[in-house]
Amino acid sequence: MAPKTPRGDDSGAGAGYGSRLPRFYGRRKGKPIRAGKQDVLDALLPKLAIPAPRAGERLALASLFAFTPKEIWLEVGFGSGEHTAAQAETHPDVGFIGSEVFLNGIGGLLKHIAAAGLTNIRVFPEDVRRLLPALPDGCLARVFVLFPDPWPKKRHAGRRFIGPDNLDQLARLLMPGGELRIASDHPIYVDWVREQMAARPDFAPCQDAAVRPEGWAPSRYEQKALEQGILCSYMAWKRR
Ligand SMILES: C[S@@+](CC[C@H](N)C(=O)[O-])C[C@H]1O[C@@H](n2cnc3c(N)ncnc32)[C@H](O)[C@@H]1O
Repeated sequence: MAPKTPRGDDSGAGAGYGSRLPRFYGRRKGKPIRAGKQDVLDALLPKLAIPAPRAGERLALASLFAFTPKEIWLEVGFGSGEHTAAQAETHPDVGFIGSEVFLNGIGGLLKHIAAAGLTNIRVFPEDVRRLLPALPDGCLARVFVLFPDPWPKKRHAGRRFIGPDNLDQLARLLMPGGELRIASDHPIYVDWVREQMAARPDFAPCQDAAVRPEGWAPSRYEQKALEQGILCSYMAWKRR
């Protein structure tokens, strides 16, 4: 059974969310990690992990990559990393930041990185809400939030990643014309996202499709949904 998740983090690194980062409700550990994945975690994570920022720290993005990226794209909750790795392979001139708390998933992305020899991905292996306040204004050209945990019960709506506080952060971080892509296979979450985004004068809708549009890459949760015959929604907004 997955261990209980930690309480809210009062290190101050959650500035922008109030003095205390709201509690994280997902799981961080699942099945025991297989030897191959552990090896890649041991070998690559220390090199690719972005250290958790200290309270009030602003990260210098220029030094994150060994090259000067044309743009920086962020993926929140990359799961096993299929989508991040595919996008990074297609866009070698873009620097990717992938964030995920689930250790098995982080190992999955690192395996893709090792197999494809990718050099344009850095990993934030923690709650992305600890990273966002430390990133400079307008530094991101694209943000992906793909198949986020739907938390379908009304009383759990406050746990959904798409909500006013996180959208305020993403609005600050996306450059004008930057794109926020959100996909979901859960009708309650899709309605929720449309409602949340309709209330934002700082974002303009630019895509709403029932079939994965060109330029999007598959993800594991998307594949699971499609195999079960569940429809997915692929939505995008531009930062005004
Ligand atoms: C339903 S899974 C989808 C994974 C992947 N995007 C896909 O489409 O296959 C949602 C993922 O988001 C991660 N997640 C949720 N909240 C997060 C947060 N605040 N920071 C980083 N990762 C988060 C979870 O650990 C989980 O792996």
